[in-house]
Amino acid sequence: MTKPLTIAIDGHSSTGKSTLAKALAKSMNYVYVDSGAMYRAVALYALRKGWVSKENGCDSKAIEGALDDVHISFELDTSGTNATFLNGHRVEEEIREMAVSHVVSHVAKLSEVRRHLVALQQAMGRNGGVVMDGRDIGTVVFPNAELKIFMTASDDVRAARRKAELDHNGQVVSFTEVLENLKSRDKADMERSDSPLFAAADARTLDNSDMSRDDQFELVLGWAKNLLV
Ligand code: DC
Repeated sequence: MTKPLTIAIDGHSSTGKSTLAKALAKSMNYVYVDSGAMYRAVALYALRKGWVSKENGCDSKAIEGALDDVHISFELDTSGTNATFLNGHRVEEEIREMAVSHVVSHVAKLSEVRRHLVALQQAMGRNGGVVMDGRDIGTVVFPNAELKIFMTASDDVRAARRKAELDHNGQVVSFTEVLENLKSRDKADMERSDSPLFAAADARTLDNSDMSRDDQFELVLGWAKNLLV
């Protein structure tokens, strides 16, 4: 039997990484790991403790000191859907709210947080057969991944997609606020000193501004299948 692949999907915010990663994992019978959900869960924990705010940044010492008390897992919820859990409680929707989006970059730039989460991510993908999406998966978490994809799309397309997702979850947010948040998170991701966002030299770039979900899926599934023969 051919060794199962490690598939790393990185890219800018709201480029459809998780949609593609989930579909790919399902079709290949691989595990899907949403690394962004892990940064969001730590940010939510810090937000609840009052250790981070959009304007004032974060109390890095408090957050770093509490990392062993933050237990993040991906489990099936009561409806049988895979969801993010924080210390035993389902937080799948709460971590996607704007309150968390506004502060997550402050938390994601902390080296101790990154080290902690990267170790968990590497353990989850130790045996291959994994599709993981994020910002540093092909560069830091799995530099030897057999398939690396770097996703991008125009700002307007990304903001429209994200707004539709928020609308769907009943959150009333203006297009401008969503667009500004995307841009500021991209900037923070690309400019942070620890593990900034960039495309690995061996990543295949996928600009999906004008591509349907099905077309992206077929293209990437083809790449993966070619690596398995
Ligand atoms: O993919 P996302 O938008 O849910 O990620 C949330 C934030 O976490 C994002 O603003 C950047 C950060 N992140 C990161 O720094 N490294 C990762 N591997 C994944 C996400």
